[in-house]
Amino acid sequence: MGLWRDFQCNTGRTIHKWSHYFPVYERHFSSFINRPITFLEIGCGDGGSLQMWRRYLGPYAQFVGLDIRPECKNFEGDQIQVRIGNQADTAFLDGIIAEFGVPDIIVDDGSHAMSDVCTTFSHLYRQMRSTGVYLVEDLHTAYWPQYGGGLRRQGTFIEMTKNLIDELNADLSEGALEPTEFTRTTNAICVYNSIVVLERGLPLPKRSLLVGSTGYFGAHPIPDAGAAQPEA
Ligand SMILES: C[S@@+](CC[C@H](N)C(=O)[O-])C[C@H]1O[C@@H](n2cnc3c(N)ncnc32)[C@H](O)[C@@H]1O
Repeated sequence: MGLWRDFQCNTGRTIHKWSHYFPVYERHFSSFINRPITFLEIGCGDGGSLQMWRRYLGPYAQFVGLDIRPECKNFEGDQIQVRIGNQADTAFLDGIIAEFGVPDIIVDDGSHAMSDVCTTFSHLYRQMRSTGVYLVEDLHTAYWPQYGGGLRRQGTFIEMTKNLIDELNADLSEGALEPTEFTRTTNAICVYNSIVVLERGLPLPKRSLLVGSTGYFGAHPIPDAGAAQPEA
């Protein structure tokens, strides 16, 4: 059953999601189905989303819920563990990684306060599996003052993402920006309405290649193109 259908049919613990998130989840999470992964959900709500992820991703994954409300401990069950603490407490986050191992997937659906979202991301992203996926949702709050948001306001996760786009491209920026650990460990930043997904991945060799027999590119030299020029 697809995730959307599963969500619609839910009669168990309540799940709170926007409908346009489901294609995004399926696009970025489907390759993890039936794999022995660690899934960290920040913000458990009523516990229904942890159960939905378990149904979707299958019997081999472990699910860790993190929430500030002690009653969320009640959501523990088969494959599901919950730890109580603040998502902005980096020592607490380190304790979760020490206990459960490096996460393959992180979904931040917690406080949605911009300072928390940025702190949690800055601390956890580099500690994920090298092929991990980090998804932040409800990012409309990046435009809402009560969450520390505002259009082009410094300190929001949307502004952070804009800077990360520059970092992602740093190695071909002709010295404008020094490549960082983020540059070397990130394959993609996908920006959707209210959601940002960051995909970690091993760096791929980059070569600018010219193939074909027409002359247009000959008048427009591309760095490194010579190495790949086919012989006449
Ligand atoms: C939107 S609800 C999560 C909904 C749930 N993931 C779902 O899909 O149904 C947000 C949750 O984040 C928790 N939360 C709020 N501030 C937090 C913080 N600073 N650290 C950890 N959890 C927090 C709340 O207690 C609440 O359970």
